[in-house]
Amino acid sequence: MEKFIIEGGKKLEGEVQISGSKNAALPIIAASIMGEGKTILHNVPNLKDVQTMIKILNYMGAKTEFKNGVLEIDPSGIYQFTAPYEFVSTMRGSICLLGPLLAKYKTARFSMPGGCVIGPRPIDLHIKGFKKLGINIENEEGYIVGKADKIKGNIIFLGGNFGSSVLATANIMCAATLAEGETIIEFSSCEPEIVALANFLKKMGGRIYGEGSHLIRIEGVKKLKGVEYNIIPDRIEAGTYILAGYMTKSKIKIKGVIYQHLLSLFDKLEEAGLEISYNDEYVETIPKERWKALEITTLPFPGFPTDLQAQMMSFLTLADGISLITEKVFPERFIHVGELNRLGADITLDGSKAIIKGVNSLRGTKVMASDLRASAALVLAGLVAEGTTEISRIYHLDRGYENLENKLSILGAKIKRVREES
Ligand code: EPZ
Repeated sequence: MEKFIIEGGKKLEGEVQISGSKNAALPIIAASIMGEGKTILHNVPNLKDVQTMIKILNYMGAKTEFKNGVLEIDPSGIYQFTAPYEFVSTMRGSICLLGPLLAKYKTARFSMPGGCVIGPRPIDLHIKGFKKLGINIENEEGYIVGKADKIKGNIIFLGGNFGSSVLATANIMCAATLAEGETIIEFSSCEPEIVALANFLKKMGGRIYGEGSHLIRIEGVKKLKGVEYNIIPDRIEAGTYILAGYMTKSKIKIKGVIYQHLLSLFDKLEEAGLEISYNDEYVETIPKERWKALEITTLPFPGFPTDLQAQMMSFLTLADGISLITEKVFPERFIHVGELNRLGADITLDGSKAIIKGVNSLRGTKVMASDLRASAALVLAGLVAEGTTEISRIYHLDRGYENLENKLSILGAKIKRVREES
């Protein structure tokens, strides 16, 4: 396995280019199998999760070719409609293949995703939506088996106790696109990644209205065609670098961002007393020596994203005062707290709330990555901690951050990837 060694305290400068969005690419790669012909996707990030999704498509019989950010998918050879546990257990996001498989082939056998460090990953909303569309769903020895003679549109309330569900919305939107008749999804996810998926499906010939709102209307069509499509930039990667700029008190440019996807972050940074400048080309950090403590609650888009919660916590460990983070999307998503405290932070947990008492500085030590975004929080802390920080098990980071150490090194960080002594 590999680890990062980071020498803290270095100022950053220059600019960083944001890669394509992992959470837009995954459901779009999945949906590409619904087309009758080849699809070509541009700006696809070279991440472990993308490689896993490609492996599953190849396992099913699709032909794929991925180089220099361009992914070609020819679904014509697909002959089996199952995703075994060894794939799904490494990436819960692969569940977004279920909707496309059922839409086009009317059959699917998919391992239940199981839980992960950020908490249980239930799929009751996915199953409810599929059943509403006339799909028969059984649970056979930990596998979801779906079958349908035909898929009929319906009115579906898709909200759960934690609000909307991103991948349940993706799954039902895909299944409804090739259904007979009209489907209304009430309490759909408004995430930019869902809007990107809807735009992709519409380019293929789908008829979708209202994406980006909590009510999406879909008129079923008979067929979809393969298309060329550009993946949107990754708002979570962008937010991570923006916080790196402020934490290291550096002026850096984060390029290729859609700033409208980050207004909740900008709002909180301004509330902390910081300035930020942004336009259609880039976001620029305007740093200060200190920043104020904040109260943050994570919510579905356009609220503050749970995927930036760990990184924001890292930032708040050095704020003036006591901050409070309430995690309303994944209430157990605090695996990073223990490791941040080992770096000298002062964080206590009370259920789904984290109380962060600002400290003057962090001190480098050995820490362990455990989840994609928790690991990003440790990298941010390592950039500012005094001395050396070693982060082990960085394969978690490779799932969602393309060329992380290279991008940070170009900005002036002292970070290197080394093999862990066995
Ligand atoms: C997507 O996961 C993202 N993954 C997650 O990003 C992200 O944290 C999450 O959305 C929330 O924004 C991908 O897009 C690949 P949800 P998803 O269904 O769709 C509950 C990352 O780091 N729920 O929106 O699986 C669920 O337990 C990853 O890039 C049900 O109760 O998340 C949670 O509390 C981590 N029943 C809430 O809804 C269901 O059937 C939101 O989850 C489904 C979800």
